[in-house]
Amino acid sequence: MKILVFILLFLSFLHGSDAKYKLGEKLYKSTCISCHGVDGNTDPNVEFIVNPRDLSKTILNEEQTYQIIKKGAHFWGAASDIMPSFENNFNEKDIRSLAYYVSKKFNPNVQEQIEKLYSQREAIPESKKSKMLKRGKKIYKRNCSWCHGVTAHGDGEATRNPEKSIFPYDLTKTLLTNEQMFLYVKYGGQYWGTHKDDMTGWSKKYDDYTLESVIKYIEVNFRNKNDK
Ligand code: HEC
Ligand code: HEC
Repeated sequence: MKILVFILLFLSFLHGSDAKYKLGEKLYKSTCISCHGVDGNTDPNVEFIVNPRDLSKTILNEEQTYQIIKKGAHFWGAASDIMPSFENNFNEKDIRSLAYYVSKKFNPNVQEQIEKLYSQREAIPESKKSKMLKRGKKIYKRNCSWCHGVTAHGDGEATRNPEKSIFPYDLTKTLLTNEQMFLYVKYGGQYWGTHKDDMTGWSKKYDDYTLESVIKYIEVNFRNKNDK
């Protein structure tokens, strides 16, 4: 008897997630495909100033995907507002289903990928821990502020070029965790699905200690500091 109840519960669970997936798929095909394409990469017919990221390479987990669909990418720091907010088009269930579908379909193993890459980083020597903020500040000012800006609002010198061809994120608004930021900076935007390679991977130039220092500097000074 107990086994039967268990099987029934399990089947209804399967059915529930199956329905969620199907709803997400339907909404994706009617709404997102025109920009993101069938396979989650940019539809070949579109050309924006910032193209959609390849969802099969995304660094975002399901919850973060939900947040981006709900509020749009600009809310979370993107310089462009091409990825719109869908909170006025869809209800909570729709947006949850979309996030579920996108995560399951395109990059279902992102969490394991993040954990694996993050666990491979070099350990920070105890003696260097207290110097991280100083080191991070120096490297941020030298390398990142040119694009992301001195206060990380995505408004550095480089964005004032006449062609207006660079669209760095406002890092005060990012929804990435520190681990994700570290991996994004280490491997670069294209590794995580961006079209252009403006945001290069920094692992050739700097060791993990230095990159972790930059992330720490961003965390302490800029994250959630939106008081421009
Ligand atoms: C008008 C074109 C357009 C439409 C429609 C659109 N997107 Fe996007 N999407 C974009 C662009 C462009 C970006 C990259 C934004 C940036 O970095 O500035 C993006 C980014 C994203 C991201 C973030 C990916 C990452 O790795 O950071 C997710 C998730 C996403 N879109 C999901 C969706 C879903 C789901 C739909 C349908 C409900 C949708 N998008 C509809 C253009 C679009
Ligand atoms: C040449 C300009 C440029 C430089 C220099 C640069 N970035 Fe970026 N960065 C970008 C652009 C552009 C994006 C958005 C990627 C895209 O959508 O193509 C980005 C994205 C990011 C993101 C992802 C934010 C998110 O929410 O998705 C992080 C984190 C980041 N940069 C940190 C850094 C750090 C730290 C440095 C210095 C070590 C740095 N960047 C140097 C241009 C730059």
